[in-house]
Amino acid sequence: MSTRQKLYLQKARPADCRDVWLWRNDPVTRAHSLTSRRISYPRHKKWFSEVLKNRRRALYIVSQGGRKLGVVRFDFGEDSVAEISVNIRPEDRGRGLGKKILKLADRLLRRGKKKSIQKAIIKKGNAASEKAFAAAGFKKISIVAGRGYSIWIKP
Ligand SMILES: CC(C)(COP(=O)(O)OP(=O)(O)OC[C@H]1O[C@@H](n2cnc3c(N)ncnc32)[C@H](O)[C@@H]1OP(=O)(O)O)[C@@H](O)C(=O)NCCC(=O)NCCS
Repeated sequence: MSTRQKLYLQKARPADCRDVWLWRNDPVTRAHSLTSRRISYPRHKKWFSEVLKNRRRALYIVSQGGRKLGVVRFDFGEDSVAEISVNIRPEDRGRGLGKKILKLADRLLRRGKKKSIQKAIIKKGNAASEKAFAAAGFKKISIVAGRGYSIWIKP
């Protein structure tokens, strides 16, 4: 696929449920998630429909040339902090999309009414994620000792 085609973030819809589930259960995604167990489809469906209804969360599908490439989730806290997580479908990782997607997510948040500080939690050993977040302007602010993850912030 041409890398020149524009990337889009579009609000997730019920029809995206299965793709998001397949990407979530990919072994690399699981290894880099705080909860690494497999998620059953019924459990995922319940979670997915709750996320779509939740005003404190927002789920976006990344697409390019009509193909779905991954998912971005924002979790909005009381404190103007928007936690962001990204999952690119396995076949499209490692081709520089991570940084671009984070920049699009940044633009989308800045278009919103409330200013938010962006936060990411990155599990130890997720070098691709650390590099992508650093390239998008995030800074590592702390390592949570014993829990195996670090906290990254973009003001
Ligand atoms: C993490 C993720 C979003 C990064 O996006 P990506 O498009 O795959 O990453 P990129 O191609 O932009 O690569 C970013 C950097 O990491 C490097 N990299 C890519 N894969 C790597 C790997 N497996 N190990 C080490 N470095 C890696 C790239 O060479 C690049 O380095 P550079 O900037 O010095 O050239 C994506 O891989 C992903 O969805 N992973 C699974 C879910 C996940 O871990 N999400 C993040 C949770 S915080």
